[in-house]
Amino acid sequence: TIVPVILCGGSGTRLWPRSRAAMPKPFLPLVGDTTLFQAALQRCPATGGFSSPVIVTGRMHLDHVEAQLGDDPQAQVIVEPAARNTAAAIALAASRLPEDAIMMVCPSDHYIGNPEAFAVAACAAADLAEEGWLVSFGIEATAPETGFGYLKRGEPISETGFRTAQFVEKPDLERAKAFLAEGTYAWNGGIFAFRVKDFLAELAAHRPQIAAGVAEAVAKGQVDGRRFHPDAETFAAVPSDSVDYAVMENTSRAAMVPADMNWSDIGNWQALHAALERDENGNSVRGTAAVELVDCRNVLVDTDGPRVSVIGLEDVIVVVDGNDIMITTVSGVQKVGKLSGAVNQ
Ligand code: GDD
Ligand code: MG
Repeated sequence: TIVPVILCGGSGTRLWPRSRAAMPKPFLPLVGDTTLFQAALQRCPATGGFSSPVIVTGRMHLDHVEAQLGDDPQAQVIVEPAARNTAAAIALAASRLPEDAIMMVCPSDHYIGNPEAFAVAACAAADLAEEGWLVSFGIEATAPETGFGYLKRGEPISETGFRTAQFVEKPDLERAKAFLAEGTYAWNGGIFAFRVKDFLAELAAHRPQIAAGVAEAVAKGQVDGRRFHPDAETFAAVPSDSVDYAVMENTSRAAMVPADMNWSDIGNWQALHAALERDENGNSVRGTAAVELVDCRNVLVDTDGPRVSVIGLEDVIVVVDGNDIMITTVSGVQKVGKLSGAVNQ
């Protein structure tokens, strides 16, 4: 079986005022009525060959995780005493699993519109992980995004998989443009398949301090029902690094499985707008309150409270949450996270 390892960290300010420190993105029903965290769990069902999940999260999100996880007694919730980024978070999960287990590492804050395509790619990735590959999911690159990792497709190693000839995390704009023009680069989807012992060996080879620190924090940790608490003092001393820089850029065993699954990291309001169902004028509406749009095109309105009425606007996003109203043009969405409401939430 494959063990889903779901990462719930970070807060995220770019979907403010809906996403807040107290109720961040993974736990909101942004598309449809399942939350992104619940959708991540549902993509890994027992019928698809998955075991109960391991969730890695901080104390801050623990209540949301437990409420949305349900009562699966086989699930494991690893409570990070401090945030040390994804290399350490994945290592915590690995250290709690049998060394031959296959982990499917999944972010909790992504949208995947085609779960069947995910299931197919997950099987292909798990097969490669069984052979010792450290596998990424490749997403077709459509813009020179600098917030993603890039995977250069190498030689074929299975029916659908390729060696990753080069893994470049968050290139600058110039390099991202060059990768896009070159044509053999995909975005890294942030989902990984690893066999436990291979991941831990590569981590030990490239970031020995993280590997040793996490191993010690787990050895000294405490089980509390389905929760696991790594030793706080030891974990606090673990260096902070992402799995992309720590392991994926350095390993010679990197592979990729292209996945055309309508993937979005919903990194801003425009991306959410694109994932939502739209009417014939490109408008979409979220939330439970009434919305009236007259002569509008490509407008998103999201409100649970006050009724919102808009006339004659184009490329505008209106979000109402509690005492906050946020209005932006589509081209302004990148600046939402810098609004003082988002920064000082
Ligand atoms: N438990 C835990 N602890 N989870 C964490 C931590 C942590 O310290 N830090 C991050 N996470 C979770 C986030 O909540 C998210 O679900 C996932 O791990 C990835 O972290 P991000 O911080 O969102 O990474 P990123 O978006 O900058 O980059 C990654 O994802 C891109 C795709 O969205 C990389 O893997 C890129 O290469 C990739 O393109
Ligand atoms: Mg992200």
